[in-house]
Amino acid sequence: MTKRVAILISGGGSNMVTLVEAMHSGRIEAIPVLVLSNIPDAGGLAKAEALGVPTAVVDHTGFKGDREAFDAAVHAALQEADPDIVCLAGFMRILTPDFISKWDGRMLNIHPSLLPKYRGLHTHQRAIEAGDKVAGCSVHLVTSELDAGPVLGQTEVEIRDNDTPDTLAARVLTEEHRLYPRVLADFVRQ
Ligand code: GAR
Repeated sequence: MTKRVAILISGGGSNMVTLVEAMHSGRIEAIPVLVLSNIPDAGGLAKAEALGVPTAVVDHTGFKGDREAFDAAVHAALQEADPDIVCLAGFMRILTPDFISKWDGRMLNIHPSLLPKYRGLHTHQRAIEAGDKVAGCSVHLVTSELDAGPVLGQTEVEIRDNDTPDTLAARVLTEEHRLYPRVLADFVRQ
């Protein structure tokens, strides 16, 4: 049965676009049923609409720090779309363990580091400051510990002597666009 995929974003949504395009072209045997953002003017929303994917916004600012209530609203929107799999793609909110448990084994995330290195934010800056020679990206299953779930796929990216966090981020992002569709294609076949 063709799997249904919802994608959660907070920003430009370039990873979301590569996932949707791969689903539309048949490289991923799944259909995108929802793109949801916590940021009302996230650039990815217009891109999703242009690709013909239904969109939703759950603005976290309206919940005034009540993470349970925010997650409940996200969950309600997801239930309406009825996905089999949820992909976090630049979704910059920490989700509650209760929400995560509802999608146990069915929620993926892409993170811009070679996990378990550099969980959290500012991954490229931290890799450069540590003097690392390689950076990269990881797709992993989401568990209640931040960026710590089982890794499903990784790509290494060389760190050059003159790299800044921005130049490194751009090269890593290019690899993210290859890695995430490949991992999701395998995942939906399981
Ligand atoms: C990507 O680099 C993704 O790995 C990162 O945000 C960017 C989103 O770009 N995610 C995280 O840092 C999650 N902790 P996009 O909106 O263009 O896909």
